[in-house]
Amino acid sequence: MNFKDQIDLSKLPKHIAIVMDGNGRWAKEKGKLRVFGHKHGVISVKDVIEGATEIGIQNVTLYAFSTENWNRPKLEVTAIMEILISTINRETKTLVDNNVKLNVIGNINALPEICKRELSQAMQKTAHNNRLTLTLALSYSARWDIANAAKNIAIAVQNGELNVNDINEEIFPSYLNTHNLPDPELMIRTSGEHRISNYLLWELAYAELYFTPKLWPDFRREDLFEAIYDYQKRERRFGLTSEQLG
Ligand code: FPP
Repeated sequence: MNFKDQIDLSKLPKHIAIVMDGNGRWAKEKGKLRVFGHKHGVISVKDVIEGATEIGIQNVTLYAFSTENWNRPKLEVTAIMEILISTINRETKTLVDNNVKLNVIGNINALPEICKRELSQAMQKTAHNNRLTLTLALSYSARWDIANAAKNIAIAVQNGELNVNDINEEIFPSYLNTHNLPDPELMIRTSGEHRISNYLLWELAYAELYFTPKLWPDFRREDLFEAIYDYQKRERRFGLTSEQLG
Protein backbone atom coordinates (compact mmCIF):
# COMPACT_ATOMS: atom_id res chain seq x y z
CA MET A 1 0.00 0.00 0.00
CA ASN A 2 1.26 3.48 -0.87
CA PHE A 3 0.55 5.36 2.37
CA LYS A 4 1.64 8.74 1.07
CA ASP A 5 -1.25 8.86 -1.41
CA GLN A 6 -3.72 7.85 1.32
CA ILE A 7 -2.81 10.76 3.61
CA ASP A 8 -5.31 13.62 3.90
CA LEU A 9 -3.01 16.63 3.52
CA SER A 10 -5.62 18.93 5.08
CA LYS A 11 -5.49 16.96 8.35
CA LEU A 12 -1.78 16.61 8.99
CA PRO A 13 -0.50 16.65 12.56
CA LYS A 14 1.22 20.01 13.08
CA HIS A 15 3.86 18.43 15.26
CA ILE A 16 5.29 14.90 15.31
CA ALA A 17 7.56 13.81 18.15
CA ILE A 18 9.78 10.79 17.61
CA VAL A 19 11.70 8.48 19.95
CA MET A 20 14.42 7.03 17.74
CA ASP A 21 15.00 3.71 19.46
CA GLY A 22 16.77 0.49 18.52
CA ASN A 23 20.10 1.65 17.08
CA GLY A 24 22.06 -0.59 19.42
CA ARG A 25 19.99 -3.70 18.71
CA TRP A 26 20.15 -3.03 14.95
CA ALA A 27 23.95 -2.97 15.13
CA LYS A 28 24.09 -6.05 17.36
CA GLU A 29 21.93 -8.00 14.91
CA LYS A 30 24.61 -7.30 12.32
CA GLY A 31 27.46 -8.25 14.65
CA LYS A 32 28.64 -4.63 14.81
CA LEU A 33 29.32 -2.12 17.60
CA ARG A 34 26.42 0.04 18.85
CA VAL A 35 27.98 3.14 17.27
CA PHE A 36 27.43 1.57 13.84
CA GLY A 37 23.70 1.71 14.61
CA HIS A 38 23.82 5.37 15.62
CA LYS A 39 25.66 6.22 12.37
CA HIS A 40 22.96 4.51 10.34
CA GLY A 41 20.34 6.25 12.45
CA VAL A 42 21.41 9.49 10.81
CA ILE A 43 20.35 8.13 7.39
CA SER A 44 16.86 7.57 8.86
CA VAL A 45 16.84 11.08 10.32
CA LYS A 46 17.60 12.54 6.89
CA ASP A 47 15.00 10.44 5.09
CA VAL A 48 12.27 11.14 7.66
CA ILE A 49 12.91 14.90 7.60
CA GLU A 50 12.84 14.90 3.79
CA GLY A 51 9.58 12.95 3.88
CA ALA A 52 8.08 15.31 6.44
CA THR A 53 8.93 18.40 4.36
CA GLU A 54 7.65 16.66 1.23
CA ILE A 55 4.10 16.40 2.61
CA GLY A 56 4.08 19.66 4.62
CA ILE A 57 4.62 18.66 8.26
CA GLN A 58 5.56 21.82 10.15
CA ASN A 59 7.28 20.45 13.26
CA VAL A 60 9.31 17.34 13.99
CA THR A 61 11.02 16.79 17.34
CA LEU A 62 13.60 14.03 17.71
CA TYR A 63 14.72 12.53 21.02
CA ALA A 64 18.42 12.44 20.11
CA PHE A 65 20.01 12.29 23.57
CA SER A 66 18.28 12.00 26.92
CA THR A 67 19.55 13.14 30.31
CA GLU A 68 19.76 9.43 31.19
CA ASN A 69 21.94 8.72 28.12
CA TRP A 70 24.85 10.46 29.89
CA ASN A 71 25.14 7.25 31.96
CA ARG A 72 26.04 5.14 28.91
CA PRO A 73 29.67 4.00 28.45
CA LYS A 74 31.92 7.04 27.87
CA LEU A 75 32.98 5.76 24.45
CA GLU A 76 29.38 5.60 23.24
CA VAL A 77 28.54 9.06 24.61
CA THR A 78 31.59 10.52 22.86
CA ALA A 79 30.66 8.75 19.62
CA ILE A 80 27.08 10.07 19.70
CA MET A 81 28.38 13.61 20.32
CA GLU A 82 30.78 13.26 17.40
CA ILE A 83 27.99 12.00 15.14
CA LEU A 84 25.87 14.97 16.16
CA ILE A 85 28.64 17.50 15.56
CA SER A 86 29.64 16.12 12.16
CA THR A 87 26.02 15.69 11.01
CA ILE A 88 25.05 19.23 11.95
CA ASN A 89 28.18 20.58 10.32
CA ARG A 90 27.58 18.58 7.13
CA GLU A 91 23.84 19.10 6.88
CA THR A 92 23.40 22.78 7.77
CA LYS A 93 23.52 23.76 4.09
CA THR A 94 20.80 21.19 3.29
CA LEU A 95 18.66 22.63 6.09
CA VAL A 96 19.15 26.14 4.69
CA ASP A 97 18.41 25.02 1.10
CA ASN A 98 15.24 23.26 2.21
CA ASN A 99 13.97 26.09 4.41
CA VAL A 100 14.24 23.99 7.60
CA LYS A 101 14.79 25.71 10.92
CA LEU A 102 16.93 23.95 13.53
CA ASN A 103 15.85 24.23 17.15
CA VAL A 104 17.14 22.57 20.33
CA ILE A 105 15.50 21.69 23.65
CA GLY A 106 17.27 20.36 26.72
CA ASN A 107 20.09 21.22 29.06
CA ILE A 108 22.35 22.55 26.32
CA ASN A 109 24.96 23.75 28.82
CA ALA A 110 25.80 20.11 29.58
CA LEU A 111 26.93 19.50 25.96
CA PRO A 112 30.59 19.69 24.86
CA GLU A 113 31.70 23.20 23.78
CA ILE A 114 32.21 22.22 20.14
CA CYS A 115 28.73 20.72 20.02
CA LYS A 116 27.22 23.91 21.47
CA ARG A 117 29.15 25.96 18.90
CA GLU A 118 27.98 23.86 15.93
CA LEU A 119 24.39 23.96 17.15
CA SER A 120 24.45 27.68 17.74
CA GLN A 121 25.89 28.35 14.25
CA ALA A 122 23.35 26.07 12.58
CA MET A 123 20.49 27.66 14.53
CA GLN A 124 21.67 31.12 13.53
CA LYS A 125 21.92 30.18 9.84
CA THR A 126 18.46 28.61 9.81
CA ALA A 127 16.70 31.04 12.17
CA HIS A 128 14.51 32.61 9.47
CA ASN A 129 13.45 29.36 7.81
CA ASN A 130 9.80 28.46 8.10
CA ARG A 131 8.94 25.33 6.11
CA LEU A 132 9.63 22.89 8.93
CA THR A 133 11.09 23.28 12.41
CA LEU A 134 13.36 20.40 13.33
CA THR A 135 13.83 20.27 17.09
CA LEU A 136 16.55 18.11 18.60
CA ALA A 137 16.00 17.06 22.20
CA LEU A 138 19.53 16.95 23.57
CA SER A 139 20.49 16.27 27.16
CA TYR A 140 16.74 16.47 27.55
CA SER A 141 14.29 14.93 29.96
CA ALA A 142 10.74 16.11 30.54
CA ARG A 143 11.08 16.06 34.32
CA TRP A 144 14.16 18.26 34.03
CA ASP A 145 12.21 20.73 31.87
CA ILE A 146 9.17 20.73 34.17
CA ALA A 147 11.29 21.22 37.31
CA ASN A 148 13.19 23.98 35.54
CA ALA A 149 9.94 25.68 34.56
CA ALA A 150 8.72 25.52 38.16
CA LYS A 151 11.96 27.10 39.31
CA ASN A 152 11.73 29.93 36.75
CA ILE A 153 8.09 30.56 37.68
CA ALA A 154 9.12 30.84 41.34
CA ILE A 155 11.84 33.33 40.39
CA ALA A 156 9.33 35.37 38.34
CA VAL A 157 6.95 35.46 41.34
CA GLN A 158 9.82 36.41 43.65
CA ASN A 159 10.77 39.28 41.32
CA GLY A 160 7.20 40.52 41.21
CA GLU A 161 6.90 39.75 37.45
CA LEU A 162 4.21 37.12 37.94
CA ASN A 163 1.26 36.85 40.29
CA VAL A 164 0.74 33.41 41.93
CA ASN A 165 -2.95 33.53 40.99
CA ASP A 166 -2.02 33.90 37.32
CA ILE A 167 -0.22 30.53 37.20
CA ASN A 168 -2.41 28.21 35.16
CA GLU A 169 -2.32 25.67 32.31
CA GLU A 170 -1.67 28.40 29.74
CA ILE A 171 1.09 30.20 31.65
CA PHE A 172 2.96 27.10 32.85
CA PRO A 173 4.00 25.74 29.41
CA SER A 174 5.31 29.18 28.42
CA TYR A 175 8.16 28.39 30.84
CA LEU A 176 8.96 25.05 29.17
CA ASN A 177 11.72 24.67 26.55
CA THR A 178 8.99 23.86 24.03
CA HIS A 179 7.14 27.16 24.52
CA ASN A 180 7.48 28.05 20.81
CA LEU A 181 6.06 24.74 19.59
CA PRO A 182 2.49 23.43 19.35
CA ASP A 183 1.86 20.25 21.39
CA PRO A 184 2.67 17.11 19.35
CA GLU A 185 -0.46 15.37 18.06
CA LEU A 186 1.48 12.24 17.20
CA MET A 187 4.32 10.50 19.03
CA ILE A 188 6.17 7.71 17.23
CA ARG A 189 8.46 5.26 18.98
CA THR A 190 10.43 2.66 17.10
CA SER A 191 11.89 -0.70 18.18
CA GLY A 192 8.79 -2.22 19.79
CA GLU A 193 9.19 -0.50 23.16
CA HIS A 194 5.91 0.87 24.54
CA ARG A 195 7.19 3.64 26.79
CA ILE A 196 7.37 7.43 26.88
CA SER A 197 10.75 7.47 28.69
CA ASN A 198 10.64 10.96 30.19
CA TYR A 199 9.87 12.58 26.80
CA LEU A 200 7.65 15.69 26.51
CA LEU A 201 5.45 14.58 29.43
CA TRP A 202 3.47 17.82 29.58
CA GLU A 203 3.23 18.28 25.82
CA LEU A 204 2.09 14.73 24.99
CA ALA A 205 -1.04 14.98 27.16
CA TYR A 206 -3.40 14.48 24.17
CA ALA A 207 -1.00 12.97 21.64
CA GLU A 208 -1.79 9.81 19.73
CA LEU A 209 0.91 7.23 20.43
CA TYR A 210 2.22 5.07 17.60
CA PHE A 211 4.57 2.17 18.23
CA THR A 212 6.33 0.20 15.54
CA PRO A 213 8.62 -2.83 15.90
CA LYS A 214 10.96 -1.39 13.24
CA LEU A 215 14.36 -0.45 14.59
CA TRP A 216 15.26 3.20 14.02
CA PRO A 217 18.00 2.59 11.38
CA ASP A 218 15.38 0.73 9.28
CA PHE A 219 12.74 3.48 9.61
CA ARG A 220 12.15 5.48 6.41
CA ARG A 221 9.75 8.15 5.15
CA GLU A 222 7.27 5.47 4.02
CA ASP A 223 7.08 4.33 7.68
CA LEU A 224 6.42 7.94 8.69
CA PHE A 225 3.61 8.12 6.12
CA GLU A 226 2.15 4.89 7.50
CA ALA A 227 2.18 6.34 11.04
CA ILE A 228 0.42 9.50 9.83
CA TYR A 229 -2.14 7.41 7.92
CA ASP A 230 -2.79 5.40 11.09
CA TYR A 231 -3.10 8.61 13.12
CA GLN A 232 -5.68 10.00 10.69
CA LYS A 233 -7.87 6.91 11.12
CA ARG A 234 -8.15 7.50 14.86
CA GLU A 235 -10.87 9.53 16.53
CA ARG A 236 -9.42 12.20 18.79
CA ARG A 237 -11.99 12.96 21.48
CA PHE A 238 -10.17 15.19 24.00
CA GLY A 239 -12.42 13.85 26.78
CA LEU A 240 -15.67 14.35 24.79
CA THR A 241 -17.99 11.61 23.52
CA SER A 242 -18.14 10.50 19.87
CA GLU A 243 -21.66 11.97 19.64
CA GLN A 244 -20.44 15.38 20.85
CA LEU A 245 -17.81 15.39 18.13
CA GLY A 246 -20.57 14.86 15.57
C1 FPP B 1 18.49 5.04 20.76
O1 FPP B 1 18.88 3.75 20.37
C2 FPP B 1 19.31 6.07 20.09
C3 FPP B 1 20.07 7.03 20.72
C4 FPP B 1 20.14 7.15 22.17
C5 FPP B 1 20.89 7.98 19.95
C6 FPP B 1 20.22 8.49 18.72
C7 FPP B 1 21.13 9.36 17.98
C8 FPP B 1 21.20 9.41 16.63
C9 FPP B 1 20.37 8.60 15.70
C10 FPP B 1 22.10 10.40 16.03
C11 FPP B 1 21.28 11.65 15.96
C12 FPP B 1 21.75 12.54 14.96
C13 FPP B 1 21.08 13.64 14.62
C14 FPP B 1 21.68 14.57 13.67
C15 FPP B 1 19.74 13.96 15.19
P1 FPP B 1 19.52 2.80 21.47
O2 FPP B 1 20.98 3.04 21.48
O3 FPP B 1 18.83 3.02 22.77
O4 FPP B 1 19.19 1.39 20.89
P2 FPP B 1 18.89 0.06 21.73
O5 FPP B 1 17.64 0.31 22.50
O6 FPP B 1 18.73 -0.98 20.68
O7 FPP B 1 20.08 -0.18 22.62
